[in-house]
Formats: sequence, C-alpha cells, structure tokens
Amino acid sequence: MSELNEKRILVTGGAGFIGSHLTEELLRQGHSVIVLDNLSSGILNNLPKHKRLTFVEGDIRDFDLVDKLVKRSDMVFHLAEYIPTTMSYGSGHVVKYSIDAPLQDFDVSARGTLIVLNSAKKYGRKFIFTSTAAVYGGANFPLKEDFQPIPASPYGASKLCAEEYVRLYYRIYGLPTSIARLFNVYGPKQSKYVMYDVLLKLKQNQFYLEMLGTGDEIRDFVYVDDVVKALILIAQDEFATGEVYNVGSGKPIRINEMIHIMLELLGIRPEVKFAGSSWKGDVKNLIADISKISMIGYRPECSLSKGLVKLINWFKSTNRVQEGL
Ligand SMILES: NC(=O)c1ccc[n+]([C@@H]2O[C@H](COP(=O)([O-])OP(=O)(O)OC[C@H]3O[C@@H](n4cnc5c(N)ncnc54)[C@H](O)[C@@H]3O)[C@@H](O)[C@H]2O)c1
Repeated sequence: MSELNEKRILVTGGAGFIGSHLTEELLRQGHSVIVLDNLSSGILNNLPKHKRLTFVEGDIRDFDLVDKLVKRSDMVFHLAEYIPTTMSYGSGHVVKYSIDAPLQDFDVSARGTLIVLNSAKKYGRKFIFTSTAAVYGGANFPLKEDFQPIPASPYGASKLCAEEYVRLYYRIYGLPTSIARLFNVYGPKQSKYVMYDVLLKLKQNQFYLEMLGTGDEIRDFVYVDDVVKALILIAQDEFATGEVYNVGSGKPIRINEMIHIMLELLGIRPEVKFAGSSWKGDVKNLIADISKISMIGYRPECSLSKGLVKLINWFKSTNRVQEGL
C-alpha cells in the first residue's frame, strides 16, 4: 500500500466504518492519528487501542475543538457524516434520512465540512474529503468525474455543496485538497446498507428475504481495504491535488446477482422477494468509471466474493447485532 510522509493525521468520523479501517492502516504505516468522532453512528470498539492513537469525542461543528485538533495535525481526512444505523433507521439508508431531515443532513455534511475545511486553511493542512457517488444522481452508463452532477437526494446535494467549498478552497486559497467520490463501500464493521440488511434479515428468518427495489438496480460495490488504499494514494500523490476521483471496483453488478452470490456463500436458498419500489431519491444505477484514479496507480484487489466472505465472517462473529448496533 502507498505510504504517506505525514506523521500526525486527523481523521474525522474515524470511529465509523471506513474511518476506522483507514485509521488502522495509518497506524500500521507508523503515523500518529487523532480521531474526532461524536459517536452518533460510529462506535469506540471499531478502533484499536494504540499508543499512537488519540480518540477525541466531539463534534465537527465545534469550531474551537476542530481548530485545536487541526492545528495539532499535519493533514486531515474528513469522513464525518451522520448516517443512521440499521436498527435506528429502517435499513439505514442515508438517502432516506436526508429526505426526512434535510436541514440536519446539511448541517453535518455541508456546514460541518466547511468548519473543518476552514481550520485546514488557517493552518495550511492538506484536506482529503470523502464525497459520494450520490452527487451524480445516477445514470445507465459509467459515471465520469467531469459529468454534470444532478443529485437526486438532499444527501447528494449537501455533499455536492461541501465538494464545491473544497474545490473553492483549492482555487481561491491554494489549499491542497482532494475529493474521493465513493461508490458502494462494504466490509467488516459496516452495520448499514444493502448487504448488512440482507444478513440481518436472514438472521431473523433464513427462509424468506424481502428487499426494497426491483433487484435490477446496478451498483459498484468496492471492498473497504481498496477504498483505504485509494484514499491514501490520493493523499500522497501530488497530481491528485485539486482533483476529484471516483472510487469503486469498476465491476458493476445487479443487486439480485449480488444477493445470489451472498446466498451461495451462506449455503441457503430462501424465497427472495423484491418490493418493486424503493425510497424516493434512491437512484436505479450507480456505475463507476474508475479510469481517472487508475492513472495514479489505483488497482482494486478484492473480488466481490472474497470481500463478501470477509463481511459474512465478521457478521457471524460480531455481537453488535445483539447489542442493537
Ligand atoms: N459507506 C459507503 O458506502 C459510502 C459511500 C459513499 C460515501 N461515503 C462517505 O464516507 C464517509 C464515511 O462513511 P461510513 O460508511 O464510514 O459511515 P459511518 O456512519 O460508519 O461513519 C461516519 C462517522 O462520522 C461520525 N459522525 C457523524 N456526525 C458527526 C459529527 N457531527 N461530528 C463528528 N463525528 C460525526 C459518526 O459517529 C461515524 O463514526 C462519509 O462521509 C460518507 O458520506 C460512504
């Protein structure tokens, strides 16, 4: 995996799914990491106990706290975002949450990002922002970074708004910033979204599975280790400054095929029914074109079936489900 020169790294949202995997890799590479997380959906158990890791429970909208932590860091990975967990929010989709609570979504996603970004500018710290494929609004063909984004949900819109500030801070103030538009990330420690939903429902009833949508929707599922690799590549490559990159596997798959693979791996054959429709704002297809990030050396390594085995093994071993997390 690519290595960074920086020594003290602030990871906002570091107690969450992707943030905790990123934190572990940064620690493995010898860095000191400060995690800022308000534990609204992340959990402390996601993080290792490590002498080079400092955990700070707090909010990215707390100006003084953010300012103090950014000052102490050499660079920032900004991942914090409020994404409800499955138990507390249907099947936990951030799109649904943002439609029900657009102001709250905006407040963390856009205003919160601006607060962290502004401190990064004050101290001249490199700033890597995790945006989302939801900014595009979906299409039947692979999405490229230079397509005009037309978000279909408040979540996509608030992330796009945050992106615009990140780009502006690069153009106006010369702050070294980069944006990663993540597609459907999955892996151990993820307790929301479609794969987790499948596992959770099958745990309750292994003979019958009912899912939202039609099953024909196409997504690009990318294993979390590949995403961590991409984020670090983007952070360490000088050509990535001022740029936006799609991060996916480059291997789109229909939801019903993905579920079929999961069932094969689980060795069960439940009756599978699709509700026929999904939430407003949940787009039909999100297909990643990853040619741009390939130019800086990104090569996704984990196949869907290998990644699913790791996810399933984690799911079976965790007591998180029993704990209601
Ligand atoms: N998981 C995916 O498939 C996916 C896809 C596209 C984009 N992303 C982006 O990646 C980032 C990480 O997502 P994730 O899947 O790890 O989600 P997650 O919910 O597991 O992690 C988000 C973390 O942010 C923390 N947080 C929320 N609000 C906060 C606040 N106000 N102050 C401080 N901390 C706060 C949460 O407690 C949580 O630990 C997010 O920015 C998300 O938009 C994720």
